[in-house]
Amino acid sequence: MADERPILVFDSGVGGLSVLAEIRKILPRASFAYAADNAGYPYGTKSEAELTARIPAILGRLVERVKPRIVVIACNTASTIALAHVRSALDVPVVGTVPAVKPAALLSKSRVIGVLGTDATVRQPYVDQLVEDHGADCTVLRLGSAALVDMAEAKLRGTAPDPAAVKAEMDKLFSQPQGDQVDAVILSCTHFPLLADEIAAASADGVMLVDSGQGIARRTAYLTQDQLWPETPSGRAIFTRADPDLDRLRPALARLGLDVIEIL
Ligand code: DGL
Repeated sequence: MADERPILVFDSGVGGLSVLAEIRKILPRASFAYAADNAGYPYGTKSEAELTARIPAILGRLVERVKPRIVVIACNTASTIALAHVRSALDVPVVGTVPAVKPAALLSKSRVIGVLGTDATVRQPYVDQLVEDHGADCTVLRLGSAALVDMAEAKLRGTAPDPAAVKAEMDKLFSQPQGDQVDAVILSCTHFPLLADEIAAASADGVMLVDSGQGIARRTAYLTQDQLWPETPSGRAIFTRADPDLDRLRPALARLGLDVIEIL
């Protein structure tokens, strides 16, 4: 018997689509409900208190609505701040997305790495702990960039990012002390893999970009490994606020099999 329950992938905006794309590669038979809390976007400039109150409540409503087999919080900001609260509020398995410090530290030769996330993510004790556990011998430079998040949102709506604007943001990382030695940048916001080409073009040759997408996909596959899948996979995108602007996202959503737009 087929199991129609989708995988629920959650973010503040379109960033989580970078994670959904990786999950889809290894679980091609899965159905997806992609949820974006566009009414709460952006998360990266909000306080811990606000996000801790907001995210479990919205995920609770989403779980009731879509009855997923598993929830993937495809957002570093939400995960580094509210993962424990979400897990205790929901009775489905929850996978979080956190900066890929471990793989970056394994790859870095210069032992100077960059954490490029949102303002909220880069100040989290969760990130300090990841650095202590996996990159203790590295110098870790941090940059929060709300501008890059907005550029990724615009890109998926059809507006190409301005290379000079991307470069101006990246220079805030590379101009920090030892910034010229950075050889691995951790894309610690799920919006940033959507700008990987632009970020690479704004970085010195040889700088590696590392993200968590494939790791999250493998974890999701592992946690669902004995489950059945739908006869015909389906995809829907759910937003927390109606906005005429959402129509501009239809092509990007359709490329990932998300054919229907709903409002929570
Ligand atoms: N995509 C989110 C992340 O991974 C955050 C974007 C936002 O500021 O809302 O952190």
